[in-house]
Amino acid sequence: MAAMAQTTQPTGSAEPGPGDLPKGFRGAEAGWPQLHRIPHPPRRVPLVGDVLGVRLRTPVQDSMRIGRRLGPVFRRKAFGKEIVFVWGARLAGELADETRFAKHVGLGVANLRPVAGDGLFTAYNHEPNWQLAHDILAPGFSRDAMAGYHPLMLDVAGQLMAHWDGAAAAGRAVDVPGDMTKLTLETIARTGFGHDFGSFRRDRPHPFVTAMVGTLSHAQRRNVMPPALAPLLLRGAERRNAADIAYLNRTVDEVVAARRAADASGARGDLLDRMLDVAHPDTGERLSPENIRRQVITFLVAGHETTSGALSFALHYLARHPDVLTRAREEVDQVWGRAQTPGYEQVAKLRYVRRVLDESLRLWPTAPAFAREARQDTVLGGVHPVRRGAWALVLAVLLHRDPEAWGARPEEFDPDRFAPAAVRARPPHVFKPFGTGARACIGRQFALHEATLVLALLLRRYDLVPEPGYRLRVAERLTLMPEGLRLRLIRRSG
Ligand code: HEM
Repeated sequence: MAAMAQTTQPTGSAEPGPGDLPKGFRGAEAGWPQLHRIPHPPRRVPLVGDVLGVRLRTPVQDSMRIGRRLGPVFRRKAFGKEIVFVWGARLAGELADETRFAKHVGLGVANLRPVAGDGLFTAYNHEPNWQLAHDILAPGFSRDAMAGYHPLMLDVAGQLMAHWDGAAAAGRAVDVPGDMTKLTLETIARTGFGHDFGSFRRDRPHPFVTAMVGTLSHAQRRNVMPPALAPLLLRGAERRNAADIAYLNRTVDEVVAARRAADASGARGDLLDRMLDVAHPDTGERLSPENIRRQVITFLVAGHETTSGALSFALHYLARHPDVLTRAREEVDQVWGRAQTPGYEQVAKLRYVRRVLDESLRLWPTAPAFAREARQDTVLGGVHPVRRGAWALVLAVLLHRDPEAWGARPEEFDPDRFAPAAVRARPPHVFKPFGTGARACIGRQFALHEATLVLALLLRRYDLVPEPGYRLRVAERLTLMPEGLRLRLIRRSG
């Protein structure tokens, strides 16, 4: 563990804290002395910025549109906030260099601080609770831990299939993102916290999900509001957001209280047990009750929203690519044989299903961007000086479509891009759905195991029929989700 503490030290935490850096939003004007070399959209309006033609509800897709025109590094300014975006493979590769850059907590992530505080996702690199919680919780994602979650994942998938069997029998189309959200919320709640939200027994989303979507959407909205007008424009929204946060806190407090009240002999060794009972192996320090609350919310939210989107996009592509679906199904039949319930080891062997998932996450990384800040003064791409603490947003969703890395037709869905030889032929750091470096996603293996298992179970059991006329629309609430995606199901025999 001591070795882990060394190797996973978030860059920046061994350095003086950022007390000497300005607090709050750090605009690009101060940190990028040669900003004029970076293109911005034409028709910039004095004082307000690049606001003509922007679509406030889809800032990521707007940035994709602009980035395609302006090139691998560009900037946008709105209401006094100027931000540098990077999506070119070479420049993104530099930003992944942990000796020069580290995670930046800004924009949407910073806007989540009122709800997630110094929880793992939103902690600043210099906050001591990051390393403490990382070291205590990382074993909760070890191979052994994952094998322990597998039966619970199967059980929740069984609930989904019972629900889908009913829809198939009635000839009813299913709400894919809605049902994937039920599945992934139940999975993280059961495996991590021994809690059952009863999502599949409800017609409507659990209020926890409604409150979570409210806070995520609010965090996104605050990014695109003029700061001076935000208190006025968002007054009602701020009140609703405070109520959403209070609801999330209450729910989490109940989950924790129930565990504390439970008989100690029923210890499960899950994430919540680790949070409550495990001391840091080197320092003996423990997580405080307030920090546990932050971590539980973090894991319940980060642990399901993005995986739900990833599964939804993958089902969309499978339904529209019967050749891919057939090949994936053949692999499942071959690897699982007649087994109704696959063992833990049989999931990682589904190499092609995993490629389908990777290719879906390439086109629509459900956490579409992450921010990186300079650890000291440096020069990006040999031409753009960056001061210590200045930052850029890596637009993963466009990096994943850079023709330099992905070839002439990056918009095409083709899982064979993830065949081993194709992966080896590409430069490093061009596929980043889980972020990068010490602050990359701790739940990556969890998400991949869950999503591969569920996709395999579903495509073995159903034929997927797209609704005629549906064209993919992507909704944004910090994360990405296919909007209004419904599929008809035909139960296969056997
Ligand atoms: C397909 C599913 C997922 C995607 C696309 C995803 C994506 C990401 C990304 C991009 C980051 C880095 C963000 C940044 O640099 O600011 C991240 C961090 C994180 N993710 Fe995930 N995630 C997924 C699933 C999960 C799951 C299942 C869990 C928990 C069970 C989880 C928990 C976390 C946590 C706690 C962090 C913060 C890690 C740290 O900074 O130490 N994620 N995730």
